[in-house]
This record gives sequence, structure tokens and C-alpha cells, in this order.
Amino acid sequence: MFTTSSLSGTKPEQYAELAEQARALLHGERDRIANAANLSALIYHALPDLNWAGFYFFDGTELVVGPFQGLPACVRIPLDKGVCGAAASTRTTQRIDDVHAFPGHIACDSASNSELVVPLVHQGALVGVLDLDSPVHARFDVMDQEGLEEIARLFMESLG
Ligand code: SME
Repeated sequence: MFTTSSLSGTKPEQYAELAEQARALLHGERDRIANAANLSALIYHALPDLNWAGFYFFDGTELVVGPFQGLPACVRIPLDKGVCGAAASTRTTQRIDDVHAFPGHIACDSASNSELVVPLVHQGALVGVLDLDSPVHARFDVMDQEGLEEIARLFMESLG
């Protein structure tokens, strides 16, 4: 049974540790749902001050909620809506200090104040996004962004 240990050291060291745990969790498994489910749980329990962590997958038209941890969320997000839609349509990570100041932000959980959304792209095709929400304003800095982009990369790699 996999248990998450609390991360230690500097922030980059903590993300290196998290990436190591993610690699172990994904090892030998290519199922998208299984890997997204376990990564959501890993991230949610390892990182402080999160109220939502999970995946949205692109169905060819819009984003559809996938495995996550946190309160029930909006099921479908058009690409021209919200922080998730912005990450998906521009294919660039969205690191938002104050979601209430983001035009079109979709409030799934009123507790959310900041958000980090990493696009998932495989061989030029949009697969979805990895989305993290926090009740803390400006919860995510550039080290969080780089750390979560690495986790997203490991997820994409696991799919083969
Ligand atoms: N806030 C997101 C919607 C998804 S929830 O945060 C889980 C957005 O604006 O796209």
C-alpha cells in the first residue's frame, strides 16, 4: 500500500520528492483514469492549503471533469470559459493569485481564492488540464508551477 510521507527540505527538494513519489505511483501503469486518480490523491494529500486537485479531460469539444480530490465540481467547461479553459485553449499554465479578478473564472467551490492550471498536451494534441485550487490568496509561486508542470509531464509520459 502506498502511503504519502510528508515532504521535507527546500521547496525544490519537496517537489523533487513529490516527483519521485509520483514516478513510483505511475510505474508500469498506463491507464489514464487510474493514474489521474492516484496523482490527484498524491497531490491533494502532499501539498498544504489545497481545496481541490484533479483533472479535466478534453473530449474534442470541451473539458470534462476527471478524477479529483475535493468537493464535487463543474462537469463541463467550454474552452473559452474559466481558468481551465484559458489553460487549455492557450496551452500555457495559468497561475492566478486571485481568481475573483480573473474574467470568466468559474467558482466551483466558493472557498477557492487562487488557482494553478497546467495544460496536458500529447504529441501536439490537447488531452486536458491538471487543476489545483487553494483557499489561500497567491498560494502558488513559480516553484509550485514548475513542480506541478513536472508532475503533469510525468502523467503524460505514463500514458505512453
Ligand atoms: N475554477 C475553474 C473551474 C474548475 S474548479 O476550480 C475545480 C475555472 O475557472 O476554470
